[in-house]
Amino acid sequence: MNKDFLCLSDWTREELEAIFSLCHDLKAKAKTGTPHHLLKGKTLAMIFEKSSTRTRISFEVGMFQLGGHALFLHSGTTQMGRGEPIKDTARVMSGYCDGIMIRTYSQAAIEELAQWSTIPVINGLTDLYHPCQIMADLFTVIEHKQTYRNLKYCWIGDGNNMANSWINAASVFGFELRVATPKGYEPDAEVVARAAKAGARILYTNDPAQAASGADVLNTDVWASMGQEREQQERERAFAGYQINDKLVDLAADDCVVMHCLPAHRGEEITDSVIESKHSIIFAEAENRLHVQKAIMATLMEGKPCS
Ligand code: CP
Ligand code: NVA
Repeated sequence: MNKDFLCLSDWTREELEAIFSLCHDLKAKAKTGTPHHLLKGKTLAMIFEKSSTRTRISFEVGMFQLGGHALFLHSGTTQMGRGEPIKDTARVMSGYCDGIMIRTYSQAAIEELAQWSTIPVINGLTDLYHPCQIMADLFTVIEHKQTYRNLKYCWIGDGNNMANSWINAASVFGFELRVATPKGYEPDAEVVARAAKAGARILYTNDPAQAASGADVLNTDVWASMGQEREQQERERAFAGYQINDKLVDLAADDCVVMHCLPAHRGEEITDSVIESKHSIIFAEAENRLHVQKAIMATLMEGKPCS
């Protein structure tokens, strides 16, 4: 098993399914008020270089529910923000804490952090990937469709960190994925090439209708991610037509589900009507960040599986 959770492709399908299984147990325990202090006395450092609502709250609450403690560290108020090398920070934190969750820009930076840390490092989002989110998304699909298998998934919109992670997921889990992006906003070329080499079943198109047609799971995300705010207007023009609205949902399977990692820009990538519709499982998806991340932390930080 990997020491860290940096990218879905570093893990096997069986290992990730074991996380879903643990998540199922932990969620049941949380819902019935049954103690599950798998990380009693352990501490997670949470480093944020970007904003967050869900990730910060779910990791902090998750550590509390597991009997441990979480430290919120905004990079700007630590010596990291003043240029202390990652490899020094990694070794110092390894002496104090039992795990690190980091949200930052560069995937290379978290790989360096993981390389120099002796404790697990969890990717809480980079410009390239958002693996914890995809685990929560797939767990939510399992809850609503009984399985993640034999379903058609589609991604509509930006070829961003979420799209790249869905591509990795299609590759590891073996499901069919269609990705519709405007020209010039395709997913990361290396991620696409690696998935193709692994035999992933992925269709890339510039036509949202083609991607959504008959789909069981529809997914989208903001057009301008964190760090791209200055491109907002130009992106609004490029992404016109890449909106999940009632018309697009009508092309999908009758019992399709719609997902969004949030925060959403209603009226841009998705309409208010779809978010509030019977197809939306968006708020269940948000809640499952908590349950899945508890299972990831318990798996990585020497927690014992639930009995
Ligand atoms: N989906 C997600 O990661 O949300 P936050 O940016 O609020 O953490
Ligand atoms: N793609 C978005 C996801 C936010 C959870 C971003 O990186 O800002």
